[in-house]
Amino acid sequence: MGTRILLYTGKGGVGKTSIAASTACSLAKSKKKTLVISTDPAHSLGDAFGTDIGPRPKKIGERLFAQEISVNEAINTHWSDLKGYLTGLFQTEGLDPISAEEIATLPGFDEASQLLYLRQYYDEDKYDAIVIDSAPTGESLKLLSFPEAMTWYMDKIFPMGRLAAKIVRPVWNTVSSMEIPSDEVFKSVESLYEYLKRIRTILTDQKISTIRLVMNPDKMSLSETKRAYTYLLLYGYPVDAVFVNKIYDESTGAFFRGWRTSQEEIIKEVSESFTDLKIFKVPLLAEEPIGVERLERMSELVYGGSNPLETFSREKSIQFVKKDGKYIIKLKLPFAEKKDLDIYNKGGELIIQLGNWKRVFYLPTVYSDKNPVKAEFNNGILDIEMV
Ligand SMILES: Nc1ncnc2c1ncn2[C@@H]1O[C@H](COP(=O)(O)OP(=O)(O)OP(=O)(O)O)[C@@H](O)[C@H]1O
Ligand SMILES: [Mg+2]
Repeated sequence: MGTRILLYTGKGGVGKTSIAASTACSLAKSKKKTLVISTDPAHSLGDAFGTDIGPRPKKIGERLFAQEISVNEAINTHWSDLKGYLTGLFQTEGLDPISAEEIATLPGFDEASQLLYLRQYYDEDKYDAIVIDSAPTGESLKLLSFPEAMTWYMDKIFPMGRLAAKIVRPVWNTVSSMEIPSDEVFKSVESLYEYLKRIRTILTDQKISTIRLVMNPDKMSLSETKRAYTYLLLYGYPVDAVFVNKIYDESTGAFFRGWRTSQEEIIKEVSESFTDLKIFKVPLLAEEPIGVERLERMSELVYGGSNPLETFSREKSIQFVKKDGKYIIKLKLPFAEKKDLDIYNKGGELIIQLGNWKRVFYLPTVYSDKNPVKAEFNNGILDIEMV
């Protein structure tokens, strides 16, 4: 069996790092070679383990490795050609050479860079499990939508740029000091794109990856979790579980009685709302879960007898159905609101917009020459009829 990838996300401070770290400890203990990676620029994995962790995998226990991604380091390692071009470009313009730090400020580049290692580790089959401690929800979603956003750019803009460069290059240097990207640069961008496409394939493959939502039993956290779940399904990412962390038990005494009641209500709503997902309940611990020993103990409370590597839900977010001669696309968007949804067909592509997030669907061949004629949204399922 190849590497299994588990990604934990959720609102700020809910316990993503602690649960990811405790999952990794439990896997290592059960003889799985495990790497836990932090993609949150505000790394705190080192704090959870009580040790320094660098931008390269560091052995921190038996079969246990940890890495805090440094965007600059990842760019230097994976994108040297691109960096070479950008440096040349800046220099011919009389500007200082560009550094990895500056590339990282270009839109989308830092999110993408955080993912570069994932493919390398997966394809090298280096670990039994990779556990990702990701940034708070909004940032993670950007990270996960990047490969798809790049696909659009690569299909539409990039070929034109490449063609234009070919045509213009011979005359360009006589009129401008600015360099036109060489074919090497285009190749480098192309390989970067192939790399990102592969990462998306890995992250959306239910047999390999799973995304887990971490929350606390309060209203704000619940609302954010519902939104995150919906957006993750829009992008086709497999989500299999919700972890409700920091639940107050009886031992918290009279002062917390009101809180306990409201937590119970939220937990009830969680079970009623996320019917397709497994729900894990984690109590508020009497001590901060820091260090391997406490994290291991925490994992027993988190998973009970369950194996963290299991796939707890196999729901498909998108289905293509042929019924009575009609082609129908069914998309699960559980907590979306009709007013936030927009569907349009642009040059043969199906685009679904939900709030600020947009997905361009690349349809299977039998659907590609069809247009959406009717859309219905009921009980969290969007049915699009294509003719
Ligand atoms: N079940 C728990 N019981 C007690 N303390 C907990 C529990 N889970 C997490 N904590 C503590 O709560 C704090 C926040 O947890 P953690 O850093 O894991 O959250 P996070 O979601 O990763 O936060 P951030 O969004 O800042 O990355 C930490 O001090 C952690 O030790
Ligand atoms: Mg964290």
